[in-house]
Amino acid sequence: MRYGYFDDAAREYVIDRVDVPQSMTNYLGTQRMGTVISHNAGGYSWLDSPQHHRITRFRPNGVPMDWPGHYVYLRDEESGKYWSVSWQPTGLPLDGAKYEARHGLSYSRFLCETEGIRGEQILFIPREEGGEDPVEIFDVRIRNDSDRERKLSVFGYVEFSFHEIDMDNQNFQMSLYAAGSHREDGAAVCELHYEKDAFQFFAGNFEPDGFDGVRESFIGPYRTERNPLGVEKGALSGSLELGGNPCGALQKKITLAPGEEKRVLFYLGTGRGDAARKARERYDEAGCDRAFGELRRFWDEKLGRLQVSTPHENMNRSLNIWNFYQSEVNVLFSRFSSFIEVGGRTGLGYRDTAQDAMCIPHGEPAMCEKRIRQLLHGQMRAGYGLHLFDPAVLEKGEDDGFKSPTVIPEADKKSMLHGIKDACADDALWLIPAIIENVRESGDLSFFDEVIPFADEGEATVWDHMKAALDFSYAQTGSHGVTKGLRADWNDCLNLGGGESAMVAFLLIWATNHFLDAAAALGREEDIAKYARLKAGMEETCRETLWNGEWFLRGFTAYGRPIGARDAKEGKVHMESNTWAVVSGAATREMGLSCMDAVDEWLYTPWGLMLNAPSFVTLDDSIGFVTRVYPGVKENGAIFSHPNPWAWVAECMLGRGGRAMKFYDALLPENQNDKMEIRQAEPYSYCQFIMGKDHTAFGRARHPFMTGSSGWAYYAATRYMLGIRPGFDGLTVDPCIPAEWDGFEAVRKWRGAEYRIRVENPEHVEKGVRRITVDGKVAETIPAFTEGIHTVEILMG
Ligand code: GLC
Repeated sequence: MRYGYFDDAAREYVIDRVDVPQSMTNYLGTQRMGTVISHNAGGYSWLDSPQHHRITRFRPNGVPMDWPGHYVYLRDEESGKYWSVSWQPTGLPLDGAKYEARHGLSYSRFLCETEGIRGEQILFIPREEGGEDPVEIFDVRIRNDSDRERKLSVFGYVEFSFHEIDMDNQNFQMSLYAAGSHREDGAAVCELHYEKDAFQFFAGNFEPDGFDGVRESFIGPYRTERNPLGVEKGALSGSLELGGNPCGALQKKITLAPGEEKRVLFYLGTGRGDAARKARERYDEAGCDRAFGELRRFWDEKLGRLQVSTPHENMNRSLNIWNFYQSEVNVLFSRFSSFIEVGGRTGLGYRDTAQDAMCIPHGEPAMCEKRIRQLLHGQMRAGYGLHLFDPAVLEKGEDDGFKSPTVIPEADKKSMLHGIKDACADDALWLIPAIIENVRESGDLSFFDEVIPFADEGEATVWDHMKAALDFSYAQTGSHGVTKGLRADWNDCLNLGGGESAMVAFLLIWATNHFLDAAAALGREEDIAKYARLKAGMEETCRETLWNGEWFLRGFTAYGRPIGARDAKEGKVHMESNTWAVVSGAATREMGLSCMDAVDEWLYTPWGLMLNAPSFVTLDDSIGFVTRVYPGVKENGAIFSHPNPWAWVAECMLGRGGRAMKFYDALLPENQNDKMEIRQAEPYSYCQFIMGKDHTAFGRARHPFMTGSSGWAYYAATRYMLGIRPGFDGLTVDPCIPAEWDGFEAVRKWRGAEYRIRVENPEHVEKGVRRITVDGKVAETIPAFTEGIHTVEILMG
């Protein structure tokens, strides 16, 4: 069963059956302000931090799901009937009213047709010079499709949030009396006195015919957003209060001749009356059109940096639009703003952020670089990374003297620093490839010499930060000589404590490969000698101690017991160790073929590869929390999406393009559009996990959008399956594709030049480049041009 379809020309996903079992979400905003919004206009906004600066309120994990939101209601003044432009919150029966939602790139559009009236509401946040005065626009159009004159009221409604999420969920004895509403210049202004200069507004491009600033007055007692009193009566009460729950509700009366359309704009932003006035002036109808056009051009330009045309329609759709978009959104909003992570945490998860920034350096180089600098600052002198930290706290200078008595918890730098015991063994290792992929993209080798402070003390060049991470990991080895797992490795639930992690060992080797490539580009011979030696030693140790004859162990517990042994009944084959053994290059070819066959045999499902199998069923804290997670869920035998692309890379390194595509196809959300009764999640975004074979809900996907699965899917598909990889001084095109493909085309912009790539596969091989032609001449390599358009022809064979 399907609930929607892809409109590729508009770059929209169209939900034409809006009674979806789970919210389908989208993200608005490309700078500081963000909104997560469902296909029913449910969701919330924030500025910079969903934890510390929430603008609108959300009732997480609630019933009905995804309420409240950024709503527009219409009321027929003659009949008294009313409805919302998004299907919820009024939820009209769908046999009478036609509803549709369209999620586009950084905007969402809601449509309804009922009672002879067509209503449309577009939500978006314009890009602003400097991004300083962000505002969300509700662009509403109402058309009279009946043959008589109609009198309507249009209502815009938002429920304001107390900025601090803890204040919004508790400590009401303070928040309800230090926040209130007033009216300025036609705008509803919400003030939060427990902070310094904290105001937010909701305004329209009109003089309102009605107004409410207090939630209870708009909604009315024992009612909900489904039947708000103010809308039902057709008259708002003009409520304002010093205290209580502030809202913004504005009413505009319109009359429409048959066939006539009118447009009404609402603005949601931070600041008070003057900010509202500025928004109204800047985004009048023409300004709103201009801003929407700019947003589209912004995405056109960004998507244009890599466009592919392969024989695989859903792969094109994913790489050219949705997968890239999801990866961008992750770099921008970094995880803690969704319907799952509802803003209770803030800052950056070390490993997640590093991987996000590694995967799309061509998309938003400035943002990736900013993230990398923040992570470098979040590294301890000893070499490990702060697992979760708020860069704003690390960077905080002098405070401004304002102290809120009880309400705002003071985040302080000291309590954010943690010792080795709490370090995750993989965190800082991801930073090395992230830095290096970004430098390969930009070509700016001087970045390695930039000096950046450590989180605790001192400072070092970027180069020495990387060495600190490598040195830390090479020193942290256990009794078998394999790298320790510490609190956890990539798998948060495999808490090996004093045990050893195969995955970290292989990741360390991979990070060293990147480092050595950079060292070669810089001619740093001493470093090459030292780290090549350390790497060779670790590779040998891994091959000797982790190979069980058919596949690689996942590691050893603190008691030295192997995880992933051949005779194990639970947790027998694991994705992380086997894929990384190949990706790192540490496995011999024979070992690689054998262990990836085991992955196929034990972990493959039509919904993607499971993380491990069989699932753990016996509690064992020496293995970790994973044994306490239900079988088939999350890290215990679910189809955890994030590591799936590691298997695509591994198969590409082994030259098995058909196998890589089999794995890719199983996970690809776009492929599952007509299986929504099982998948239950948006088909345009990778989800964190899909219930595995050992769970009754096998195939059900959970936690969309905010997941590192996206960046990795993009990275693996573009760099390894299509094989387009920037290096320090040249571009590599080394595809690994299904034998039946005749080839593909791609356009890649890189360092000021444009490469028009055409791959031909007349002999129907899976891998191998027989001839490279650059601008019509046979070449050994593809140079790094600095300008111009260049044709690249790759003949496989
Ligand atoms: C979640 C975490 C990520 C971790 C993964 C596996 O996605 O955000 O950091 O690597 O789970 O445990």
